[in-house]
Amino acid sequence: MKLVSLIVMLLTAHIGYSSDQVIKVIPYPQQLKIAGPYFTVNNGFSIKADQQMRDAQFSLEPMVREWNTLTGSTLKKRSKVLPIQLIYDKTIGNGPEAYQLSIKKAGIEIRGSSSAGCFYGIQTLKQLLTKNGNTISLPQIKIIDYPKFAWRSYMLDESRYFYGKDFVLRMLDELAALKINKFHWHLTDDPGWRIEIKKYPELTRVGAYRKDSQIGGRKSEKRAGIPHGGFYTQDQIREIIQYASKLNIEIIPEIEMPGHSSAAIASYAWLGMKGKKIEVPVDFKSLDSYNITKPEVIQFIHDVLDEVCNLFPSKIIHIGGDEVQFDSWAESADIQAYMKQYNLNSPADCQIHFTNAISNYLAAKGKRMMGWNEILGKNIHESAKASDFVVKSTLAEETIIHFWKGDVGLITEAAQKGYSIVNSLHTQTYLDYNYKTTPLKKMYQFMPVPSGLEAKYQKNIIGVGAQMWTEWTPTYKDVEYKTFPRIAAIAEIGWTGSGDYEDFVSRLKLIGEGWIEKGINFPTEEIK
Ligand code: ACM
Repeated sequence: MKLVSLIVMLLTAHIGYSSDQVIKVIPYPQQLKIAGPYFTVNNGFSIKADQQMRDAQFSLEPMVREWNTLTGSTLKKRSKVLPIQLIYDKTIGNGPEAYQLSIKKAGIEIRGSSSAGCFYGIQTLKQLLTKNGNTISLPQIKIIDYPKFAWRSYMLDESRYFYGKDFVLRMLDELAALKINKFHWHLTDDPGWRIEIKKYPELTRVGAYRKDSQIGGRKSEKRAGIPHGGFYTQDQIREIIQYASKLNIEIIPEIEMPGHSSAAIASYAWLGMKGKKIEVPVDFKSLDSYNITKPEVIQFIHDVLDEVCNLFPSKIIHIGGDEVQFDSWAESADIQAYMKQYNLNSPADCQIHFTNAISNYLAAKGKRMMGWNEILGKNIHESAKASDFVVKSTLAEETIIHFWKGDVGLITEAAQKGYSIVNSLHTQTYLDYNYKTTPLKKMYQFMPVPSGLEAKYQKNIIGVGAQMWTEWTPTYKDVEYKTFPRIAAIAEIGWTGSGDYEDFVSRLKLIGEGWIEKGINFPTEEIK
């Protein structure tokens, strides 16, 4: 027996196999066992899929065709091809996204209890495959894998700049490869309205375009001198949703209210608090917010939400709710009268009252509201007045809180009150921040469940999001530069949980080679 082991050891050492070999996979699986050295695939692959796994099979087919061309596989050699079996196995546990992957010289097995799990097994297989010229090799390996968090999102802000369908589809492919399962689409904000709403055509005729944009930072007087804009038709959005669903990605639309609404108000002046005509802002400013005291404005919001809810199959609608300009609310006679009518204490109290009504409206349509953590009515902005935040209303309990700013105490309090929370703390998850402020390592060290949160509340933290705000990234190449490689850190935190940073970096260097091959623009020197 000892002699056999010795021979195996010598043999494996000879062909370069060692147990501490870098395994090219991100996020790292929950359990991974190396069962032998890499082996070469000489005759291509075949696929066999159980009926329940057919959806996942379609994501494998183009790749297998490509691999087969590479290995020169022909029908004559069919008996020698490496079989890939996609097996429906309802016993594997750990939720619908779990999978098991076994790679042996005799064949590959991917097991899942749903096509989502099977799809993720395929994503892992794709990453593990090493191509060297015409040679394809794979490690002999056994993986048992499932996500730590159900919510793993990437937010793209297209209000500030419009990047278009082709870029979004390519980005969805990359997110799926990293097992990110939510695409949070920030479609409306001050500088642009990007979604066709049939009942209000001015939103995209006027609100989707701006004459210019600020460059050089918030205080800068410099302008790019280039008008720009664009929007998605409802047909294009349907196509993107369909594409994403095949990648196990749910699209959550964000329609900002009551603040960050200048583009809508530029389209229809009667929506605003100030009641005056404005233009879509060219600099990083919010010029006005919806006048939530007017029935016709509430009707407008309902009409927009009707179309949004019909379009997006997601059960979750993000309503923004951040950074409302309470200065102008506090001075407004309409708001004063509204506070009196509903016995409310402050602008923040008014916002909760409004937000709860929206929550009810969405709930009646079978949807659940999500919003940035300002909707809880806490003052999280240093410059705000404390008197604007005297609240007695309570936010609807089924709300999903998107936590982006505030101390640990605030998120803990929200969890204790029973809210579901996605943790996107800006200092460690905002991709618009530069690499000096938020280097890769700082993102990787983010803990979605704050330390000290009692075990019984930890389940309220349903996941983590990475946010790509785009005021300073006019082209999709700029967006790639900020997104990659840091998105991989958030992906691994969301799927695997915390890990060893040095090990992550060694895997990321290999994954990054694939991004380079595809022409993705990113700072390779930041993988350190
Ligand atoms: C935010 O960054 N204003 C949510």
